[in-house]
Amino acid sequence: MTRRDFLIAPSILSANFAKLGEEVVNVIASGADWIHFDVMDNHYVPNLSIGPLVCEAIRPCTEAPIDVHLMVRPVDRLIPDFAQAGADIITFHPEASEHVDRSLGLIRDSGCQAGLVFNPATSLQHMDYVMDKLDVVLLMSVNPGFGGQSFIPATLAKLAEARARLDAYERESGRRIRLEVDGGVKVSNIAQIARAGADAFVAGSAVYGAGQDSDPHRYDSVLAALRAELGRA
Ligand code: DX5
Ligand code: ZN
Repeated sequence: MTRRDFLIAPSILSANFAKLGEEVVNVIASGADWIHFDVMDNHYVPNLSIGPLVCEAIRPCTEAPIDVHLMVRPVDRLIPDFAQAGADIITFHPEASEHVDRSLGLIRDSGCQAGLVFNPATSLQHMDYVMDKLDVVLLMSVNPGFGGQSFIPATLAKLAEARARLDAYERESGRRIRLEVDGGVKVSNIAQIARAGADAFVAGSAVYGAGQDSDPHRYDSVLAALRAELGRA
């Protein structure tokens, strides 16, 4: 796998919200690939974050894909709003949708890539009958709701199992599904996580916690370090 096959997706949940546009511009200039956009509703998860208006506001700041992670219930009502607001990828938790196949179809029909998100205790079987509608599989390596939590080690074995399923699907269909991981990803563990099978890496506090607020290049070194570790994976 070449370096660029690994995607780094900083989560703006840990960015400075008073300067969100700049934060997006700077992190992409420093070498990030996707903008991870965490949507929390104080219902499906015990926290409240940002919605389609904020997605629309940052859309003109970058051409990088915006990766919307919905932690909301119900799911379907918000899909067209995020598509309209410029999302490129929309993922949701199967437990939060009454009709998973329909929600995936809605995302695809609105012109976005679609994905399912698996909580640490959620079985991978939820992907079984919808592989053809998946562009991304996202494994949570923390319980959703907050940035800055520690990586749950059992995710490594689960990543390997997901990798095997996605590789088998690619062999039979010729279609590659991305395997993303979210929560507690840092310079110290990203290589191990990549070796377990992930190819897209959300990192919130590890990226946005770096450097001094006034320095526009403050994310250069952490992104270079993450990339260097991926080069060793
Ligand atoms: C958690 C969110 C994550 C979070 C990651 O519910 O989905 O995207 O922001 O933050 P870190 O990298 O700090 O664990
Ligand atoms: Zn997330």
